[in-house]
Amino acid sequence: MISSIPAKLGILTVSDRASRGDYEDLGGPAIEAYYREVLTSEFEPIYRCIPDDFAIIEQTLIELCDVEGCCLVVTTGGTGPAARDVTPEATESVCDKMMPGFGELMRAVSLQKVPTAILSRQTAGIRGNALIVNLPGQPRAIRECLDAVFPAIPYCIDLLEGPYLTTDEARIQAFRPKKK
Ligand code: MTE
Repeated sequence: MISSIPAKLGILTVSDRASRGDYEDLGGPAIEAYYREVLTSEFEPIYRCIPDDFAIIEQTLIELCDVEGCCLVVTTGGTGPAARDVTPEATESVCDKMMPGFGELMRAVSLQKVPTAILSRQTAGIRGNALIVNLPGQPRAIRECLDAVFPAIPYCIDLLEGPYLTTDEARIQAFRPKKK
């Protein structure tokens, strides 16, 4: 199905300090910039910035997927070992199935850059027709992680019967086993 309706793409920054305004959120805008750089199909970004609170993360993920109708939600922050880091747990709590390959690959590529990559518990999962992907809070991790997993994201969204995402092939080659 080739859709002319812009894909709704969620961007969720999870950070106590950014949500309080203690500092500017750099991660959310970096995810939007990444979508703009890589995608050639139309999309509408839907952005939220919230504290590291389990119930608020759950509620916001549900809203982005079920009410806003996002086919993809990329989160940043709250994946580490600290007491307030609960983004992976809240993601798992709202997902129907987990996609552990995303976290495995992102950690493996990140480990080439920083030894502390193993401190991220980042994961991914499916809620209804939406794919949720966690990224660490470091803005530079966004490109490092998304470059690794993005080739598989358009086909994942096809399998979830979402909009047909196309990419700038010079930047990211979306892999689709069967040509549409
Ligand atoms: N992955 C990449 N690619 N780049 C990074 O700088 N930082 C690590 C890790 N993964 C990092 C990374 C660090 S220092 C931590 S503590 C964990 O992600 C968790 O970060 P978070 O709690 O901000 O999500």
